[in-house]
Formats: sequence, structure tokens, C-alpha cells
Amino acid sequence: MKFFLDTANIDEIREANATGLLDGVTTNPSLIKKAGREFFEVISEIAKEVDGPVSAETVAHDHETMMKEGLKCAKIADNIAVKVPLTIEGLKTCKALRAEGIMVNVTLCFSANQALLAAKAGATFISPFVGRHDDVGFNGMELIEDIRNIYDNYAFDTQILVASVRHPTHILESARIGADVATFPIDVLRKLFNHPLTSSGLAAFDKDWAATGFSIL
Ligand code: E4P
Repeated sequence: MKFFLDTANIDEIREANATGLLDGVTTNPSLIKKAGREFFEVISEIAKEVDGPVSAETVAHDHETMMKEGLKCAKIADNIAVKVPLTIEGLKTCKALRAEGIMVNVTLCFSANQALLAAKAGATFISPFVGRHDDVGFNGMELIEDIRNIYDNYAFDTQILVASVRHPTHILESARIGADVATFPIDVLRKLFNHPLTSSGLAAFDKDWAATGFSIL
């Protein structure tokens, strides 16, 4: 499973990249606002920092303007994936951008039928939002399971990019289901490494090793 970082903060991206486990980055208008930096400046910097796909989200609602925005974003770097919303206009744009060979991430997906439409429009990635789904009393992971089944039934190559991830259990369940990618904030990445038995085990080994007086180096 690929790991993307869900942020427009360059320091967080550098921290994640240093682990050697980072496969890409996703951004959205809210994350750009939080980063407090000019859109093209920050997306260009991120695209240089990571080798994998960097999602840059369009903001227009009509196909014509969205297409112009998408083409402009795609010119930033070869690893840009243009993000479009799961609307009729968004899927028209998805199809047209894919015909130009541009990666497209279809965002704001909340149903398996929407994911089916995105795959038919040739999306590179579909972003179902599990956390926001959970927030309104649905089970976000059931959505991922449904999409996995549907995509496998028809051998669609659209990658399932689990978004709106809130905690490590979302990652674990995504991996069990066979999602292709999960995008998550830096605090979730940090939590993935932690286990109290790893910490206590390490402390015990340190103590015993110190008592031997040996040195490896
Ligand atoms: C990423 O592509 C999505 O925009 C993001 O994961 C949404 O996360 P949120 O629901 O925490 O805002």
C-alpha cells in the first residue's frame, strides 16, 4: 500500500520523506489555506521535494474553467495529479485531462456508485473520504470494501486512495481491504510507528546490554 501525506506543510513533508516511506502528497484548498502560502509556490516546492504524485486541487465548478485550471496545474511538474470534485463537470474534466496523459485524482467521493463513475471516467485515483463518512454515522471502511469489490469485478485500474484518515485503524483496515493508497496527516504517520511494547522492550534491552559492558562498534 502506498503512503501519501495529506498536507501542504513543507516541514511535515520533509519529516515524512526522511522516513523513506513517503510515496506522494495530497493537498486541498483547506490545506493550502492552513499552510498560508501562495498556491503555485507551495505546490511547486512540494513537487520538487517528493518523487511520487502530488495532488493539486482545482476550484472551478464548470468543466471549461476547471480544465484550464487543471492544465495550468499539470504544467507545474510531471508528478502533479490534478484533483477534481466528483461532479458531472469534474468527471468531464477527468476524462479530458486523462486524454492529455495527465494524472487525475477524483475527490469528495462518498458512495460506491460515485467511485464507479470515476473509474469509468478513467480516474488515476479515487478519493473516498472515510473520516467524514464516519462523522455522519456511516462506516467509511464499508465504502472502501464496496469500491474494492466493484473495481476488482471489472478490473478497473483506478487506484483507491483512502482519504480523510483520522487514526491508524483506518490505515490497518484499508490495508486489510487492499486499498492502493492511504493519505493521512503527519500525526497519524507518527502514531503508526509507536507501540508501548516496542518502547518497553527497547528499554529492557538497553539496560541488559549496558550491564554486559560489550560494544558492537
Ligand atoms: C485529501 O485528499 C482530502 O482532501 C483529505 O484527506 C480530507 O481530509 P479531512 O476530511 O480531514 O479534511
